Amino acid sequence: MTDQMQQIVLKQYCEGAPNPSDFELVSKDLPVPGEDQFRIRHIWNSVDPGTRSRLSGGDSYAAALPLGKPIDGFSVGIVDASENDAYPVGTKVFCAGGWRTHTIQNGKGFIGQVPDAVPLPLSLWIGVLGIPGLTAWFGLKSVAKFQAGDRVLVTSAAGPVGATAGQLAKAGGAEQVIGIAGSDKKCQWLVEEAGFDHAINYKTTPDLDAAISEAMPKGVDLLFDNVGNEMVNRVLPKMRLNGRICISGQVADYNLSPEETPGIVNTKPFITHRVLMQGLVVFDFAREFPVALNEMATLIGKGELKLQEERFEGIDKMPEAFCGLFRGENFGRRVVQVSAEE
Ligand SMILES: NC(=O)c1ccc[n+]([C@@H]2O[C@H](COP(=O)([O-])OP(=O)(O)OC[C@H]3O[C@@H](n4cnc5c(N)ncnc54)[C@H](OP(=O)(O)O)[C@@H]3O)[C@@H](O)[C@H]2O)c1
Repeated sequence: MTDQMQQIVLKQYCEGAPNPSDFELVSKDLPVPGEDQFRIRHIWNSVDPGTRSRLSGGDSYAAALPLGKPIDGFSVGIVDASENDAYPVGTKVFCAGGWRTHTIQNGKGFIGQVPDAVPLPLSLWIGVLGIPGLTAWFGLKSVAKFQAGDRVLVTSAAGPVGATAGQLAKAGGAEQVIGIAGSDKKCQWLVEEAGFDHAINYKTTPDLDAAISEAMPKGVDLLFDNVGNEMVNRVLPKMRLNGRICISGQVADYNLSPEETPGIVNTKPFITHRVLMQGLVVFDFAREFPVALNEMATLIGKGELKLQEERFEGIDKMPEAFCGLFRGENFGRRVVQVSAEE
């Protein structure tokens, strides 16, 4: 075994869309666990669009990442050295590991053991059984208070959060689930595989407002938004009485300065239609994660929750995999394999 580990650190703050040259791959000595600690050899790491919010140098909803620090992300791996009886060597875990090959943890914070009883691919524990799936679950059910019979509109619908949210709505008895996505291939998958009622390619539709109205002539009960202010502003006049908007993410706005970020001006429906809008921080629901994970694992096992995954190999591929998220290149969850499964 090598006595070195690798990690991707922030070399310079991103201006606009992130670029691979903003990041740097560095090696360092493999850390040794201290009292109550254990070391995880990462197998799969994720790239997440929300990470961008910490890479501009100014504080966003999370504090700016200092230069030279490893980038945030989620990881699934195996304990390869331990001073903690609850996490012996060989335990498979998912955690907030980041863009590195190894981390030291103490069992606190976002970490869990991969249940042996659930024979699913390991990478799912940073995908639909990780933060994206949990974001969909709690955004839909706890923030947007989904009810059977809702007419649901999901943006960035082919991403891991959006695709899961739409399928959970459909499984829960939604009257209608419509997705918005950026390619015909994504739209086709949403309808043919994920069971959405209809999908709109916002990049080729000449009039997106008209396309949404045509697809949802009775309006929108629940908007699950992953994209940002322009989209929310567009959909607000289409909200039905007692409509609910979950602000899950703002991928179209993450690369913009505050001055460049569009505003929301269509506020009248908040009064006329008693619309509620609420933001989500998925970790607020951490205590309920086990129940949601259990139910989603069951749905996956029964083939009732479909997912797309794109795999990259090698930690050096993480910047490229991340930057492509902002060009719409990912079709589903992007995961990067940084060591062998066994
Ligand atoms: N609130 C929370 O606690 C929480 C937790 C996790 C994630 N999130 C958020 O959930 C959202 C979805 O995350 P995800 O992991 O499933 O990623 P994702 O939706 O796959 O994000 C990447 C996709 O965003 C779309 N996109 C990129 N730039 C865009 C733009 N300028 N305008 C419109 N769409 C654009 C692209 O899809 P198209 O091809 O469709 O354009 C791209 O493939 C993100 O905003 C993320 O930050 C929130």
